[in-house]
Amino acid sequence: MTRRVRKAIFPVGGLGTRFLPATKAMPKEMLPVVDKPLIQYAVEEARAAGIEEFIFVTGRGKSAIEDHFDFSYELDRVLSERGRTADLAAIKAMLLRPGQVAYIRQQEPLGLGHAVWCARNLVDDEPIAVLLADDLILAQTPCLKQMLDAYTGGNLVAAMEVPREQVSRYGVLDIGAESGQRVEIKGIVEKPTPEAAPSNLCVIGRYVLDPGIFDELGRLDRGAGGEVQLTDALARMIGRVPFHAHRFEGRRFDCGDKVGFFEANLAFALEREDLGAACRAVLGRYAKVGASRSKG
Ligand code: G1P
Repeated sequence: MTRRVRKAIFPVGGLGTRFLPATKAMPKEMLPVVDKPLIQYAVEEARAAGIEEFIFVTGRGKSAIEDHFDFSYELDRVLSERGRTADLAAIKAMLLRPGQVAYIRQQEPLGLGHAVWCARNLVDDEPIAVLLADDLILAQTPCLKQMLDAYTGGNLVAAMEVPREQVSRYGVLDIGAESGQRVEIKGIVEKPTPEAAPSNLCVIGRYVLDPGIFDELGRLDRGAGGEVQLTDALARMIGRVPFHAHRFEGRRFDCGDKVGFFEANLAFALEREDLGAACRAVLGRYAKVGASRSKG
């Protein structure tokens, strides 16, 4: 029987240099899409998939993330006094219960694989989920839930096709047999050139990992960019445990990129009942400006 996935790791130690100066004193995971920080979308997605324990791998300067998921006495009191019951309910609902959340530090920026390995002592011999908050996914069924519903053991990654010229930003998959959304994976390579890439099916930041991953990561071998890559550990496990990709349903936004982040704000605002109409009107005005600019 497939073991239930109860824990999720959120690597949030990165410096976020692509979003300077916004991220000089604020974690990039706290950047809001509309009115909610990226990390909260990731935590809510994990919760919706039945995750019960949340492990954040943080670094210096990331304490705003801990505060965000903690109780705020001042805010609670002020909102109660002012009768702001909806806001109060919203901030209560997002709290993680005591014992449900752990923060550990990745002391050195040695890569995603190293960040995941830092959480090894907080995980028993059980499969675990990893979510990268930069990858924001708008979907009817949250992406991680889609994956856990399809999970039958081994390693499973979320995947989507990207234009060939962009594959060098991703872990790229060598594809075997396909059945519906499920793809058997024969190989994986981190950030190859378009010419060297085995396909244009790429890993998006959602993983369900066999616990054997920690031994592989523990070798601390350096890969692409001189970092300890999760991709390389996954590649070494091929043949020992099943490896699949899940072509998820939904729209993914690369919030580690300025244009992707801008688009995520547009898409999420347009989806909102309270903001959609007003935002559509604004967009209409800009579309006109854009059209006249490109003519001129
Ligand atoms: C990481 C992974 C890469 C994956 C990507 C998804 O790269 O190393 O394999 O495709 O996330 O967003 P990063 O974006 O941290 O460079």
